[in-house]
Amino acid sequence: MTKKNTFQTPIGTRDVEPADAARWQALISAFQNEAELAGYGLLHTPIFEDLGVFRRLGEGTDVVTKEMYDFVDKGGRTMALRPEGTAAVCRSFVQHRPPTPWKVWYHGPFFRYESPQAGRQRQFSQLGIEAIGSADPDVDVEIIAVAAKVLEAVGLKRVLLLINTMGDADTRVAYTAAVRDHLKANITELDASDRVRVDDHPLRVLDSKHMSSRDVTTRGPQLRDFLSAAAISHFERVQTGLGALGIAFAIEPRLVRGLDYYTHTLFEFQASALDGAQNTLCGGGRYDGLVEELGGPDTPGIGFAMGIERMLLACDAERTYPAPDIRPQVWVIDVTDGTSARDLTHQLRASGHRADRSFDGRSMRSQMKAADRSGAVVALIVGDSELADGTVAVRRLRESADQAIIARTDVVAHVAQVLAESPAISTPKDEDIQ
Ligand code: HAM
Repeated sequence: MTKKNTFQTPIGTRDVEPADAARWQALISAFQNEAELAGYGLLHTPIFEDLGVFRRLGEGTDVVTKEMYDFVDKGGRTMALRPEGTAAVCRSFVQHRPPTPWKVWYHGPFFRYESPQAGRQRQFSQLGIEAIGSADPDVDVEIIAVAAKVLEAVGLKRVLLLINTMGDADTRVAYTAAVRDHLKANITELDASDRVRVDDHPLRVLDSKHMSSRDVTTRGPQLRDFLSAAAISHFERVQTGLGALGIAFAIEPRLVRGLDYYTHTLFEFQASALDGAQNTLCGGGRYDGLVEELGGPDTPGIGFAMGIERMLLACDAERTYPAPDIRPQVWVIDVTDGTSARDLTHQLRASGHRADRSFDGRSMRSQMKAADRSGAVVALIVGDSELADGTVAVRRLRESADQAIIARTDVVAHVAQVLAESPAISTPKDEDIQ
C-alpha cells in the first residue's frame, strides 16, 4: 500500500485543542466582562482588508514592510490578512461615523510573517479595546485600568506596567528627526543590528538591548526636552489617575513600541515570568492622527491589544488560571442495546449536566474503562436486571466506589444531588494546567 501524504499546521501556527481552547474561551469571557463593565461593545471587523488600511500603520514599521500577509485576490484587488486591530477599527469608524466616544473591544486571529518562537507566531490571537473620539487623559486611565483588571481577573501577579509619553504628533516628528541626526553622527558606535534602523525607525534604537547602542541614546536628545506644556499636563493627569485607582506603574522613557502611529501615552504590561523577548503581554497607546490618516476627521483615539497565547504562557509560568473543567460529570454505561444511554444522556444534558457515553455496543469492561478515563464523577449503569426493574445503578468514580440502585424516574434528581455534594468537579487539579 502506498503511504498517503499527511499535512501539518503551517509554520508559526498551531491547533488549539479542546482543553486549551476552553481556557482560551474563558480568557475571552473574562476580557469581555471587564470591557463591558467599562462600556465597550464588541466589534467584529473582517480578517482581511484592503492593504491600504494597514499601510497607514507607517512605512517604518516591520509589521508593514516585512511581515504583511498580502495577496492579490481573484478580482485583482490587493488585500492583506490583518496584522493588528487598530487600523481596522479606525477604518470602521471612518466608514460608519458612530457617535463619539466610540468604545469597542475585539478578539480574534491576527497574522504577521515573523520568525516563530515561544510566544511569537505567524497566526496569533489578540484581545483589544479602542476608544475613539476623546482626547481626555482620563480615557487613557480607563483603558489601562481595563487591562489591569483583566490581568487581575486571571490571577497574574508578576506583571509590570511601564508608561511613557510621545507627546503630540509635532513633538514626535521633531524628536524623531533629532534622534536620527544624533544616531547618524554616532553610527559607528551603534550595534550593527541597530544601524539598519536609523533611517526608517530611529526611535526603535531607544529600546535596543545592546549596551553600545544604549550608551549612544543615553547621551542623545531626550524626549522630555521636546514636550509641550499641554503634553506634560496630559501625562501628569494620566499618572495621577493611575495612582488614584491604585494601579502601580513605572515611567520608562525608552518605551517607544513597534508601531509608528503613537502619540502621547504609551504603555506595556510586561510579565516578569516570561523570557525578555516575548514578555509583553499587552501594549497600547494613543494614536491621535490615525483616523485622519484613514480619511476621517481629526479624531483622537487610544487602545491596547493583549496577546492570548502570551497571556496563557504567563499564566502557566505563574501557575494560575487553570483550564476550566470540561470533563463529563456523568458517564452512562449501557450494556443492553444502548437505548437507555441514548435517553439518559439526553435527559442529563437537558438538566444542565455534562454527560457522555460509549457507542458501538462495547463490553461492560470497555465502557467502565472509558468512564474511568473520562474523569466523570459518577457512572450510571444499566444492565439487563436494571432495565427489567426500571432502575439505574449509580456508582461514584472518584473518591469512593460506592453504588446505589435508584429508580429510573428519580435518577436525574439523584445525580444532581451527588454532583452538588462533590467538590471535585469545580476544582481542576494541577495536572490540568497546561
Ligand atoms: P502590538 O504590540 O503589535 O500592538 O501587539 C499587542 C500584543 O499582541 C503584544 O503585546 C503581544 O502580546 C501580542 N502579539 C503581537 N505579535 C505577536 C506574535 N507574532 N505572536 C504572538 N503574540 C503577538 C498592537 O497590535 C496594537 N494594535 C495595539 C494597540 C491597540 N495600540 C492601540 N490600540
